[in-house]
Amino acid sequence: KVYDDPIDASAAVAQEIAGLIRENDSKGGKCVLGLATGSTPTKVYAELVRLHREEGLSFKNVITFNLDEYYPITPDSLQSYVRFMNEHLFDHIDIPAANIHIPDGTLPAEEVAAYCVEYENKIASYGGLDLQILGIGRTGHIGFNEPGSTITSKTRLITLDHVTKVDAASDFFGEENVPRKAITMGVGTIMEARRIILMAWGEGKASIIKRAVEGEPSHEVPATFLQNHPNVLAVLDTAAGDEL
Ligand code: GLP
Repeated sequence: KVYDDPIDASAAVAQEIAGLIRENDSKGGKCVLGLATGSTPTKVYAELVRLHREEGLSFKNVITFNLDEYYPITPDSLQSYVRFMNEHLFDHIDIPAANIHIPDGTLPAEEVAAYCVEYENKIASYGGLDLQILGIGRTGHIGFNEPGSTITSKTRLITLDHVTKVDAASDFFGEENVPRKAITMGVGTIMEARRIILMAWGEGKASIIKRAVEGEPSHEVPATFLQNHPNVLAVLDTAAGDEL
């Protein structure tokens, strides 16, 4: 779906999320959301905050799992995804703290593998993700699943691609300060979500969107694996969809 403006596109994604939350509320169930960071989803979060404030949308029965986190990183670091999520969403809505899950960037190395299995188990214990929202990196990564990630990959520690570190350099005041690693949900974790929305804005994403949408599915561009998902929507602005 191509929109003229990322603001309208983001509002439409927020409406879909709100609809899902209300639908689950009316059934007395929980809504399990997979959330993303980066500049792409910020307007979606701003709209959800507005819906909470102005229309009383409640997040009391929403469970969230974030895709990824740098490793190592402390939650109070400027660049931490914990901080990002608090600032853009969680501090402004009524979600209980116990409902929020973000990969822990502070664990000792020897605990990470077991933690990743636990993260998968937690998602499964809530019955899986109702909806996963995604941005896309210039390498074609979703979450931090860099080229080489397989379609069945699960939550794990990965090494960031050089291109991703270059893109993150300004956030970290220099490429040398970007963590070498990250904990990310796997492609397989993402593929198990019942619905996926991939978002991209701006001309800088046009070529990777073309590869993701029209290229042969391959681990060289992990986002191509989404083509195999039965319920996926790419939401783009005109610039990001320009090469399709
Ligand atoms: C980071 C995140 C991804 C995100 C990507 C794109 O690498 N881990 O989840 O999709 O950046 O970032 P942006 O939305 O800022 O373009």
